[in-house]
Amino acid sequence: MAHRDHFGDYQLDIYRAGLRGVLPALPVDFATLEARATAAMPPHVLSYVQGGCGDEFTQRENADAFRHWGMIPRMMVDCSSRDLSIELFGIRFPSPIFMSPIGVLGICTQDAHGDVAAAQASVMTQVPLMASTLSNDPLETVATTLAGTPGFFQLYTPKDKDLAASLVQRAEAAGYKGIVVTLDTWVTGWRPRDLNAANFPQLRGHVLTNYFSDPVFRRLLDKPPEQDLAAAVSKWGSLFGKVLTWADLPWLRSLTKLPLILKGICHPDDAKRAIDGGVDAIFCSNHGGRQANGGIAAIDMLPDVVAASGSTPVLFDSGIRSGTDVVKALALGARAVGIGRPYAYGLALGGAAGAAHVLKSILAEADLLMAVNGYPTIRDVRAAGATRR
Ligand code: FNR
Repeated sequence: MAHRDHFGDYQLDIYRAGLRGVLPALPVDFATLEARATAAMPPHVLSYVQGGCGDEFTQRENADAFRHWGMIPRMMVDCSSRDLSIELFGIRFPSPIFMSPIGVLGICTQDAHGDVAAAQASVMTQVPLMASTLSNDPLETVATTLAGTPGFFQLYTPKDKDLAASLVQRAEAAGYKGIVVTLDTWVTGWRPRDLNAANFPQLRGHVLTNYFSDPVFRRLLDKPPEQDLAAAVSKWGSLFGKVLTWADLPWLRSLTKLPLILKGICHPDDAKRAIDGGVDAIFCSNHGGRQANGGIAAIDMLPDVVAASGSTPVLFDSGIRSGTDVVKALALGARAVGIGRPYAYGLALGGAAGAAHVLKSILAEADLLMAVNGYPTIRDVRAAGATRR
């Protein structure tokens, strides 16, 4: 690999720009980024992105728990050339991170096209986007913007099975490379910040374009959403969350030949059962502590899920705030690691370029940690493992 290809070289770009008196437009660390976003974002968008379930203990714990995992440096290893690429579903990705599905990307940018901006950031960085069902731009527009950069579609399974099938078929036709079914959100968790502001974006008609543009959904309405928004939102509310049980897995599996990924698996027995049911990957996540304030950090549940999953890839998110967190999650067995809130803040502060900057900063830190700690490849990271302090 040519030296210029290293993600860590992003720091050289920043330092060199500094020689011309140019500072980075956005901070490179999460704490400063979040502070900037807190000052800049409209309160109703900020509370939805930043908030979580209950007193947000789990949400904080997700991030804090990375501190009790550590990695032991190895010396006298030639790390002048590093490879952070991974293989997933037969595709080679240049880096081990992806953008987790975020249902309000649309309203994170002032032009209300945050989904398109996220897709542009994906093209800029080659970090794949998991496009949420909840978006302001239709999944087809997001796919067109991806322009061949592999992406995934995240499904919130509606109660109407034909509508579910329609969304999946549209995602297939648009060229997405896998379907991510989120299991933990058939009902919204108790979110005090949003409740205290009586603010739920979907009920205000935001981010429902994938439904409003769907032929099956439109057939269920008396009048099109353009004529009666309130009725369309109400119909959406009545259809939103199908209660999924293991009895539904054969049906979910039958919806697509694309790789099927189940998001929200935290127990090893659930991982085994999903794999027995034919899923292609497990996605260990507690939704960033937004759904249940259960108290256990997602990263602490990852090792058992990985052990139960055998050769089936395990994706992970919840609490990733830095490149160091990414490397620790890889060391604990994740095949790929999802970035959530950090890129949403980048998007809100700087559009596509802002999100790309956040992703590039995370990748640079991950790459430089591997360089300094003596792990030239992800295989080496995995072999080294992480130690619980
Ligand atoms: C989410 N998440 C989410 N997950 C999903 O499957 N579909 C979705 O539409 C959304 N929407 C969403 C909105 C917002 C504002 C946030 C912050 C998160 C969960 C997301 O995919 C991921 O699991 C969490 O963001 C991970 O937690 P952290 O690392 O962001 O704290």
